[in-house]
Amino acid sequence: MKKLIELMTEEVSSAFEKAGYAPELGRVNGSNRPDLCEYQCNGAMAGAKQYKKAPFMISDQVAELLKDSPVFESVQSVKPGFINLNVDPAFLASYLEKMSGDEKLGADTAEKPRTIIIDYGGPNVAKPLHVGHLRSAIIGESIKRTGRFLGHKMIGDVHLGDWGLQMGLIITELRHRNPSLPYFDENYTGEYPKEPPFTISELEEIYPAASARSKEDEAYRSEALEATGELQHGRRGYMALWNHIMNVSVTDLKKNYEKLDVEFDLWKKESDAQPYIPDMVEEMKAKGFAYEDQGALVVDVKEEGDTKEIPPCMLLKSDGASLYTTTDLATIVERMKLFDPDEMLYVVDKRQELHFDQVFRCARKTGLVKDTTKLSFLGFGTMNGKDGKPFKTREGGVMRLENLIADIDAEMYKKIVENRSVRDTDAKDTAEVVGLAAIKYGDLSNQATKDYVFDVDRFTSFEGNTGPYILYTIVRIKSILSRYKEEGKDPCEGKLLPAQNKTEKDLMLQLSGFGAMAENAFAETAPHKICAYIYDVSNAFNSFYHETKILGEEDPARKQSLIRLLVLTKDVLETAISLLGFSAPERM
Ligand code: ARG
Repeated sequence: MKKLIELMTEEVSSAFEKAGYAPELGRVNGSNRPDLCEYQCNGAMAGAKQYKKAPFMISDQVAELLKDSPVFESVQSVKPGFINLNVDPAFLASYLEKMSGDEKLGADTAEKPRTIIIDYGGPNVAKPLHVGHLRSAIIGESIKRTGRFLGHKMIGDVHLGDWGLQMGLIITELRHRNPSLPYFDENYTGEYPKEPPFTISELEEIYPAASARSKEDEAYRSEALEATGELQHGRRGYMALWNHIMNVSVTDLKKNYEKLDVEFDLWKKESDAQPYIPDMVEEMKAKGFAYEDQGALVVDVKEEGDTKEIPPCMLLKSDGASLYTTTDLATIVERMKLFDPDEMLYVVDKRQELHFDQVFRCARKTGLVKDTTKLSFLGFGTMNGKDGKPFKTREGGVMRLENLIADIDAEMYKKIVENRSVRDTDAKDTAEVVGLAAIKYGDLSNQATKDYVFDVDRFTSFEGNTGPYILYTIVRIKSILSRYKEEGKDPCEGKLLPAQNKTEKDLMLQLSGFGAMAENAFAETAPHKICAYIYDVSNAFNSFYHETKILGEEDPARKQSLIRLLVLTKDVLETAISLLGFSAPERM
C-alpha cells in the first residue's frame, strides 16, 4: 500500500512538472516546524540554481497549482522558498480507511523476501542464563518478528555455547568430586547410566566452583583444558557427560526463554560446526590462506585502509584445539550448506566486535560465503545498574535472569494491586504480562548499541516512556470498546470521518505513519524506532482522549467514526508491541 508521504510526493511532483520543473523536486518530508505545518517540500530551494530563478518564484508557482488539490488542506509558499503543507482531513480519513482494511496496516510485504539467519540469545550451556544474555534475546527476537511481519524468511538460531572451556571445567570438577564414576574410566566399555549424575541446581553450583578454582589452581586449569580438548576429540565418557549436561541445561534454558516469550527456530550449537572444521581448515591451507605462526594456524585478515590493527584470525591453537573463531567460521560453512541465506545477522555484545570483524573478513577472503551474502553484526551495549556499572545483584554477584524477572514481576504486582482495578486473582498473571513489557520496552527503547541503566522503578512506572504506560493506553482503549459493545454496538461499523480538531488529526497523522515506520525500523535494525513511534501514538491518543467525548457523543455517525479510530489505534499499537515481543492484557 502506498504511504501517505508517497501520495503527497506524487501530488507535489506533478505540480512541479506542470510548472516546467523536474518532478524529483517534489519530494515531501516531515515538517521541521510542526508549529507551522504538518509536512514540507524544499524542492524549490533545491531547484533554484538549476533553473536560475529565485526559489520563492518556484515555490509560489507550485503552491498556486496545488491550491485545489484534494490531498492538501493548505499549501503555503513561504520565503525564502519553502512549501508548507497540511493534509486534507477528508483525504487523511480515507487513507486511514484503506489502512484499516489492510492486513499489515499499510506496511508492504517484501517483494523479494530475503532469507536471514539471525544468531541471537547465545547462552552458554551449564552456565545460568544471566542478564548479559537478556539483551541479545530481546533485541534479536524483535528484529526477527519485524522481518517476519514484512515477509522475510527469518531463521532464529540460539547458537548455544556448548564446546568451550566451561565444559572441560565441569568435567574436571565432577571428576574431582566423584572419580569413581564410569565416565572417567578410560577402560570402561559398557553403557553409561541414563540418569545424569547431577541436577540443574547442582550443575549451576558446579560451574562457578570450577571456574573459581581454575583461576587459583594452575594444575586444575591444565586439567580442564585437557578435558576440553579430549571432549572435542570425542572421548567416549566425556561425550556421555556432555550429553547429560546438554539435556539438563537445555531443558532449563527453554523454560527461561519461554518466560521471555522468545522462540528460536533452531537450537544449533557450537559443536554442530565441529564436523565442518577439518575440511574447512584443509581447504584454507590448500588455497594458501592459512599458514603456521608459532605453532598456531592463522589467516591474515588485515586490509588496506585499516585504521586500527586487526590481528590475524586464529584457526587452530598449537595443540590443535579449535577456538571460538573456528566454530564461528565452521558454523558459517554449515549455514551456507543448509540454508544459503542472503544474510547472517549476529546480535551479540559489542565487546565482541573485533571477533566478528575477523570472522567476517576471513569468511569472505577464503570464499566461505558468496559475494552477495551479507554478514552483519549488531553489537549491543551493556546493561548497567543505577551505579553505572554492569548490572549485579545486591550482593554483587551475577544477576540471574530468572531473579531479575521475578523482581520486576513483584514490583509490578505491588503497583497493580495499589491501583486496585483488577481483582486479586488476576493480578498475578497481569503482573507477569506487564512485567515482561516493562523489561522489554525498557531495553528496546534505547538504541541497541548504547549502554543503558536498568532501573526497576522507572521501567515499572505507569507514567513516562515505559512499557506499562503503553499497555495502560491500550487497556484504556479496550475498556472503552468493551463498554461500547455493552451498548449492543459493533465497533467496526460506520465510516472514518474527517478529524474535527487538532488532537484528533494529530492522532490520525501518527497512525498513518505505521507502515513506513515498520519498514524503516527493520531496514535499520532499530527496534528503538518502533518504541519511539509507539510512544508518539500513545501520547497522541491520550491527548485526543482527554479532549474528546467518545461514548457521550450524540451524533451517531460521528460516534461510530470515533470508535473506528479507537479500533485502528488499538490495532496499530498491538501490532507494534507484537513486533517488540510482548502483548497487552485485557485489564490492568
Ligand atoms: N555464547 C557467546 C557468549 O556468551 C555468544 C554467542 C554469539 N554467537 C556467535 N555466533 N558467536 O559470549
